[in-house]
Amino acid sequence: MIPVTKPYLPSREKLNQYIDGIYERNWLTNNGPLVQDLTRRLEEYLGVENLLLVSNGTLALQIAYHALGINESVNGKPVEAITTPFTFIATASSLKWDGIAPVFADIDPKTWCLAPKNIEAIITANIRAIVPVHVFGNACDVEAINEIANRHNLKVIYDASHAFGVTYKGESLLKHGDAATLSFHATKLFHTGEGGAIVFKCKDDLERAKKLINFGITGPETIEELGINAKMNELQAAMGLCVLDEMEENLKARAEVWQRYEETMGKTLQLQVKHQALGYNYAYFPVVFDSEEQAVRVVAALKENGVLARRYFYPSLDSVECLDAQADQPVSKDIASRILCLPIYAGLSVEIMEKITSIVTEVTE
Ligand SMILES: Cc1ncc(COP(=O)(O)O)c(C=O)c1O
Repeated sequence: MIPVTKPYLPSREKLNQYIDGIYERNWLTNNGPLVQDLTRRLEEYLGVENLLLVSNGTLALQIAYHALGINESVNGKPVEAITTPFTFIATASSLKWDGIAPVFADIDPKTWCLAPKNIEAIITANIRAIVPVHVFGNACDVEAINEIANRHNLKVIYDASHAFGVTYKGESLLKHGDAATLSFHATKLFHTGEGGAIVFKCKDDLERAKKLINFGITGPETIEELGINAKMNELQAAMGLCVLDEMEENLKARAEVWQRYEETMGKTLQLQVKHQALGYNYAYFPVVFDSEEQAVRVVAALKENGVLARRYFYPSLDSVECLDAQADQPVSKDIASRILCLPIYAGLSVEIMEKITSIVTEVTE
């Protein structure tokens, strides 16, 4: 089966060298030298400061909520945050898991990111934060969201799990918000097997988060506050250092696949509309079909030919019962019902890409 994405496996020789070093030092976790090195290298590569490596992208979100204090109730009031229903479950479930009720606002039909006017319409006294997603690596309307957050005194945490290396107006997209979180899951463009990171706007928040990811421990005999274990380990960092070394080749190969898809399908099918000032990372190739029935037929036809396309993100999270959504989000529901992500990864052959394109064209013509 051709998968929708494939983990990027870097040079085995180089990975072995890093692992030799781990064996020599006998230092496997607790802010080891490879984690420190990867932190510096990522800050430099991404052009950001205050980056903290963590064990996965879900904990990156949870640590960000805690470091910014949005999970703390004020005067016993319920704690809520506005987020998007068009995302991976972890964006909303991480809120709920931390006692913050996710309140959904609908997305923009073209960019598929949260529409600022819909955020503004549902702000109440219980809302503590906005958690938008740069979905598929597209930039949210960061200026409008920032303006709304300032006016209502709300924190903004961007789930930037898909936006590794994305630039907006020539700078890292991760610079927007009080914090931006990344997932380094194996299937992501940049990965550490499992892993993640948070980029904080303020150094003070970074310092608090450093304690939180290590059980709240601040010294051999001091536990300053309630924390958890969210540390990245040395083996994860070794994988990350190797993947980062080969990022240019990886990006180039993905860009070629992406551009070929766009040339053949962009004229007839609905693609995500990206901001003019976006420097994209070619992480995903989502396509929206005319109807759900057509999308389902494409999935079946691809599967018959050994290709796995994913209905990503489906279902829209306002229909997931355990999240207790208060209202329907029709735009998200509509896009989620008709969307597919087509296979994209470095090394996807032209032959397979052409096969995928011709199957899609055949079903949709
Ligand atoms: C938008 C989004 N948020 C959060 C996550 C969770 O990241 P992780 O799998 O690293 O915990 C993912 C992972 O795929 C994601 O796509």
